[in-house]
Amino acid sequence: MCGIVGYAGGRRAVDVLLDGLRRLEYRGYDSAGVAISYEGLKIFKDVGQLSKIQSNIPNWEGGMGIGHTRWATCGRPSKENSHPFTDCSGRIALVHNGIIENHLSLRKQLEEEGHKFTSETDTEVLVHLMERHYDGNTHAALVTALSEVKGTYAVAAMAEGDDHIVVARKENPLVIGVGVGENILASDVTAILNLTSRVIYLEEGDSAIVSANDITIFDAQGNRAKRDPTTITWSIEDAEKGGFEHYMLKEIYEQPTAIHNSLLGNLDEIYAGAIIPDIDVTSVKLVACGSSSHAAMVGKYIIESMAKLPTTVELASEYRYSPGTGENPFTILLTQSGETADTLAAAREARRRGCRTMSVTNMVGSTISRETDHVFYTNAGPETSVAATKSYITQLMAMYLLGLRLGTMRQALDRAEVRNISTELRSMPRYVNGVLDEASEIENAVEMLASANHAFYLGRNINYPTMLEGALKLKEVSYIHAEGYAAGELKHGPLALLDATTPVVAACVNDHTREKMLGNISEVAARDSPVLGIGLEDDRDLAAITDIKINIPTVSPILSPVPLTVVLQLIAYYVAKKRGCPIDRPRNLAKSVTVE
Ligand code: AGP
Repeated sequence: MCGIVGYAGGRRAVDVLLDGLRRLEYRGYDSAGVAISYEGLKIFKDVGQLSKIQSNIPNWEGGMGIGHTRWATCGRPSKENSHPFTDCSGRIALVHNGIIENHLSLRKQLEEEGHKFTSETDTEVLVHLMERHYDGNTHAALVTALSEVKGTYAVAAMAEGDDHIVVARKENPLVIGVGVGENILASDVTAILNLTSRVIYLEEGDSAIVSANDITIFDAQGNRAKRDPTTITWSIEDAEKGGFEHYMLKEIYEQPTAIHNSLLGNLDEIYAGAIIPDIDVTSVKLVACGSSSHAAMVGKYIIESMAKLPTTVELASEYRYSPGTGENPFTILLTQSGETADTLAAAREARRRGCRTMSVTNMVGSTISRETDHVFYTNAGPETSVAATKSYITQLMAMYLLGLRLGTMRQALDRAEVRNISTELRSMPRYVNGVLDEASEIENAVEMLASANHAFYLGRNINYPTMLEGALKLKEVSYIHAEGYAAGELKHGPLALLDATTPVVAACVNDHTREKMLGNISEVAARDSPVLGIGLEDDRDLAAITDIKINIPTVSPILSPVPLTVVLQLIAYYVAKKRGCPIDRPRNLAKSVTVE
């Protein structure tokens, strides 16, 4: 997904911008560019990697500039479609994340007025609109230009001769890093942490003027606004690989700490209102995309069994366009980034319908955190690999905490039950470490998957969504087609696909579906599919009917998704590694999907 960086200060802007953009590489991009204030306004952009741009860029000094990495949406990846864009006179440069929905009609008008366009993008209309309104005040030109567009944006622009960058945001994140004698801005805090940990998150509709020594912010109505800086506690090392071959593996290994951090304090405060204060909840709806939607599905089992509350799950992309029933469930939106376009739209739709909303997110200050009635921060720390791992595990922690909280509020759980679950949750980092200790055994076990073209992931009950997540992990990092399936559904169709070339990964834990699950695995084995079983250490029945068995620690069935998920993440990682895939940045994917 596109990334923005801007800098004003005493350093060489080219270096700061390229360094910042490099820290955004994990988001995925196909082209990049910078505009530098140096002997006028200079622009360099191209398709391909930042390293190519770095080696070809002229030796421009200059302490102010804006940069961009583009992930093509409107217009193919090309040099012409890369940002920054300039107006006809070459006096204004602009970079943008988001979508200008009315760009075609605006472009027609502007062309009729004589503006010449050089790209196929929606963004380019913005710089021509600025040119239309520019009278020496770049901020006023940007604000007026934006008043004419319909759509979403994080935008940064600068004009020849200015000592400042102007920015604005709507439904796309933009953060300003506050330095001493220098200021930096970016679409993601990861890009600026090496310069400062003091950041200002712009609010919806804000615009700002950023120079080396000053930051002036205006709200959506154009009034001067005060936004207090937040101090980010992540270090730059937190966001880097720390000796692991891939971010994905590093982040898998960070899960014991992440679990600990997400539970921190909350378990002791369940009765005192941790997660949510006392509110009247009669039903729950969980809404999310991708991995977060699988955490939501696990959450349904947790909330129904702990709180005895009717709970539904909807994909955000479906919910936002659904007719609604007139009922107003407590609506919980799960999103690692807090910026996923569909999930944000779903949050807004839920509020429009009159629902009380809560977000479960990893990103402090993210858009969703500011647009929901309650927020739970999962505290997973920065996640760089496109594949969600520690953010997913901490979303599960949020679901357990929420189940406990709702269960106690409704008196569906007694104190002994709360104590037992809490004790097991506190031990979860140790259980996960136990799984991580088996990593080399898992690496050896994945041979049967590495050469396959198709695979099935089977589970039941709370581990049906766990296996959906396992299949998604395999698909995205190894490019193997994997289907997550509720094991009881196999005989209703997909069993026809099974043969000796289609391996099956099956989870079997000690719950009331165990016997049925063993039966389903036997059905699969009878079709010659190689079976990799994942189950409890002492489950000899499972070992007897599978080709390979991976053990997980003995935990209560309701908590079994946690160790199971870690096994599934390692399976996906090692298969992808064996197949030589670009694990942290799978093709066609982006970390944060901020467009619909
Ligand atoms: C999973 O590995 C992916 N990264 C993806 O499915 C992700 O969970 C989805 O795009 C939702 O992102 P969010 O949690 O940031 O909203």
